[in-house]
Amino acid sequence: MGEPDDAGVYQISEDLALIQTLDFFTPIVDDPYAFGQIAAANSLSDVYAMGGVPKTAMNIVCFPLEQMDISVLREILRGGLDKMIEAEVALVGGHSVEDKELKYGLSVTGFIHPKKVLTKRDIKPGSMLILTKPLGTGIINTAIKAGLASEELSQKVIHVMAQLNRYAGEAMADFPVNACTDITGFGLAGHLAEMVSGSGAGMRIDSKSLPVFTEALEFATMGLIPAGAYKNRKFRESMLHISSDVFLALADILFDPQTSGGLAISVDKSHAEQLLNSLHKKGIEWARIIGEITTGPERIWVQ
Ligand code: CO
Ligand code: CO
Ligand code: CO
Repeated sequence: MGEPDDAGVYQISEDLALIQTLDFFTPIVDDPYAFGQIAAANSLSDVYAMGGVPKTAMNIVCFPLEQMDISVLREILRGGLDKMIEAEVALVGGHSVEDKELKYGLSVTGFIHPKKVLTKRDIKPGSMLILTKPLGTGIINTAIKAGLASEELSQKVIHVMAQLNRYAGEAMADFPVNACTDITGFGLAGHLAEMVSGSGAGMRIDSKSLPVFTEALEFATMGLIPAGAYKNRKFRESMLHISSDVFLALADILFDPQTSGGLAISVDKSHAEQLLNSLHKKGIEWARIIGEITTGPERIWVQ
C-alpha cells in the first residue's frame, strides 16, 4: 500500500504474473447501456495501464430493486458484456446486492510478463509523455446533468469514455515505454503527480498540446467546474507550478476528474513520434505528446 499502482501483480512463474483489479461506481450517464459500457471500459483500463492483457472478469452489481425496473439492470449488463467481448475477456461470474444506490463495475484478472510490468513511478528523464484521450469529461458530465450539453456532445463524450484502452496498450507494447497509468478521478494533474512522487524525476507539461474537448473549455470558462476538481487541486497543488501564461480554463481542466480516461505513457524520446503515429493509426486520433520527463526535483511544471 506504500506505493499504490493501478492494479495488483502476483508472480506465478518465470514468465507469467497475474494482474488483478476492481472498480465500480454510480452512473455518470442516464443511458443504462452506455453506463455499462463505460463502467466496464473503466474497470478493464487498469490492466492495460500496467501493460497487461485482461482475461477474465466478474460483474459487481448494487441495484435498487424496489425503485428501478430490472430491465435497466439488463441493459447495464449488456453494455458491460459488449465491452468484455470487444476486449476478448471472459465473463466468469459476479455478485449482486440490493442497495439504495445503483452501482456497477468489474473485478478483472489479466496476464502479464513479470519483467514487463509498467508501474507509475518508473518515469525516466529523457522520455516524452503521451496522453491518449481528451480531457474535460468531468466538466461535460456536469454540464449534461445541468441540461446545458447538446445531445451530440453527450454522445461524443460517451463514445470516448466507452473506448477501451486496449488499442493504446497494444500500441505501446512495441515501444520502449518506461511507465504508464490511466487518467481517472484525480484528474490529469493528480495522476501525473502520482507518477512523479517517489520517481526522483520531474515533468514539464505543455498546456497548449493537451487534448481537450473544446466544449469543456467553454463550460469551464462559464465556471462549470465539478466539486471533485477543487478537491483534486487542493490535494496536489503544492507539486505543481502552473505558469501565469496558462489559460485559466485549461488550468482548471488539469484537475477535472475523468471517467474512463486515457493512458498517460512515458516513452523514450527517440520513439515518441513513432508511438504517436502508431496510436493514430489504431484510430486513437486524440493522442498527443503533452510534455516530457525531466530530472528532479519531483515537481510538475505546466507552461
Ligand atoms: Co488506474
Ligand atoms: Co481504477
Ligand atoms: Co456470491
